[in-house]
Amino acid sequence: MDDYHRFKVVLIGDSAVGKSQLHARFARDEFSMDSKATIGVDFQARTLVIDHKTIKAEIWDTAGQERYRGAVGAMLVYDITKRESFDHIPRWLEDLRAHADKNIVIILIGNKMDLEDQRSVPMEDAKEFAEKQGLFFLETSALNSTNAKNSFNTLLIEIL
Ligand code: GTP
Ligand code: MG
Repeated sequence: MDDYHRFKVVLIGDSAVGKSQLHARFARDEFSMDSKATIGVDFQARTLVIDHKTIKAEIWDTAGQERYRGAVGAMLVYDITKRESFDHIPRWLEDLRAHADKNIVIILIGNKMDLEDQRSVPMEDAKEFAEKQGLFFLETSALNSTNAKNSFNTLLIEIL
């Protein structure tokens, strides 16, 4: 019995919403305040066991339409303190639906929830949008780790 699974997951969303730092959390449990904008391909693999199945998750943090090739999961990230990054989500979703496999599992992520005092996107708005679009939804903080692993696991469990 071959119960080894390989999953490709892509991280998408506006610049500076925290994709690379979420990535660093999933892959190495690290965080950096002076994160540079990602240029080119950033790719990490992590092996984990869910439901007695060994999963090799490949997380891609990269630009361009080829990023969707072979992807079974997508994390669509906005910044809860930047309304604009949330307003752009429908466009990201359009891009995703135009280029990715139609069975791709998508989770909407409102990152930087540690900055509650600067919040400009109410959680209810995002929840409602996610429900309408059939997406999973979670708010996260790459900084203090809240829901970082959880969001990733939610996606993987659904893909399995
Ligand atoms: P691009 O590579 O340009 O697309 O940006 P990105 O989405 O990868 O953003 P990145 O992860 O580089 O984070 C941008 C800035 O936000 C950095 O200064 C991070 O330290 C900060 N940041 C990321 N996640 C969080 C978070 O959860 N909370 C707070 N307070 N800051 C965060
Ligand atoms: Mg980045």
